[in-house]
Amino acid sequence: MSTTSQYVLVTGATGFIGAHVVDVLLSRGCRVRGATRSSSKGDAMIKARPQYSDKLDFVQVSDFASGVDFEKAVEGVDAVIHVASPFTYDTKDSEKELIIPAINGVKAILSAAAVQPSIKRVVLTSSFASVMDADRKAPPYFTYTGSDWNPLTYEEAIAPSNPAFIAYRGSKVFAEKAAWDFVKAEKPGFDLVTLCPPMTFGPVVHPVARVEDLNESNAMLWEIATSSPSTPLPVARVPFWIDVRDLALAHVEAVLRPAAGGKRFVPAATELFSYGKAARIIDSEFSWAKGKVPIEEQLIDESHGLDGETAARELGLQYRTFKETVSDLVAQVYDIQRRTKV
Ligand SMILES: NC(=O)c1ccc[n+]([C@@H]2O[C@H](COP(=O)([O-])OP(=O)(O)OC[C@H]3O[C@@H](n4cnc5c(N)ncnc54)[C@H](OP(=O)(O)O)[C@@H]3O)[C@@H](O)[C@H]2O)c1
Repeated sequence: MSTTSQYVLVTGATGFIGAHVVDVLLSRGCRVRGATRSSSKGDAMIKARPQYSDKLDFVQVSDFASGVDFEKAVEGVDAVIHVASPFTYDTKDSEKELIIPAINGVKAILSAAAVQPSIKRVVLTSSFASVMDADRKAPPYFTYTGSDWNPLTYEEAIAPSNPAFIAYRGSKVFAEKAAWDFVKAEKPGFDLVTLCPPMTFGPVVHPVARVEDLNESNAMLWEIATSSPSTPLPVARVPFWIDVRDLALAHVEAVLRPAAGGKRFVPAATELFSYGKAARIIDSEFSWAKGKVPIEEQLIDESHGLDGETAARELGLQYRTFKETVSDLVAQVYDIQRRTKV
């Protein structure tokens, strides 16, 4: 594994995916500046990594909803990984809480990066939500690739009659399109790489004091571990997923590999998942869960695929198994719960 002395800005660095990206960068010899709205979360990240106290710093930024200035954050860095974007399905006004901040954040980071000549590469965490077309149905069998785009319109995404997950999909596709449009129009001194991962699960390395603080995707897995056998399992909207550690490595390789420039990847495990599969893993791996979780045969939709192989080949990834991901997360969250129970 190559090492480098690059100085990389990571936005969303105190979040689920961002914190793993920070750790992979540090392990590769990079200096890292994290951006966060909360200086206490930034301090907690530094405190938890005493061996990297001279390699990790944080800068405070404002909420993207009200417009954000990344001018100070980008000073002196060689590359940017823009992970930050709202990811929640618990909204009152999805346009205000999801779509506008996502687009604002992307435009602000790219505008700031464009006036820093030292920045040669920007990597953006987009999502499979920006790739999938909810109306595209098999047969015939098809495989989504990095060339596919979600055709969702702005009007559909903000329609109050549509659930928040539709607005979230809109937030990702409109923000990613804004990034590619910016690069095309402004021709900045950096090139862009976007990553469009599906559901991301796995152990946490960001500050999670209580189980209630778990990020959206992991919270769904943990809910299964704590549901009674008669509770109906949630149904996965898509069967694609990736382990957060594999995704973090993809981000770092996307910064370090010159040939990645200008590309759009869909990193994803080749194994498919369902929440029923997660429940069986939890039941078989943890004695405290045996016979206590909902066991349900859920059919996995195998009518179409997602091309995780291109990202694996071009970014040097080896995807973990769903069993490893679920087991590592559930063991960790069980510990957090035991420690915080009064
Ligand atoms: N988890 C998944 O399954 C998944 C799958 C595909 C793509 N993604 C994408 O991956 C990225 C990170 O997601 P995650 O799962 O790591 O979520 P997360 O833990 O909620 O992290 C998101 C980070 O974004 C920042 N953020 C959120 N809303 C913001 C706002 N309004 N203004 C400024 N900053 C804001 C937060 O940073 P501070 O609180 O420190 O400011 C937070 O740490 C997002 O772009 C998400 O769309 C996630």
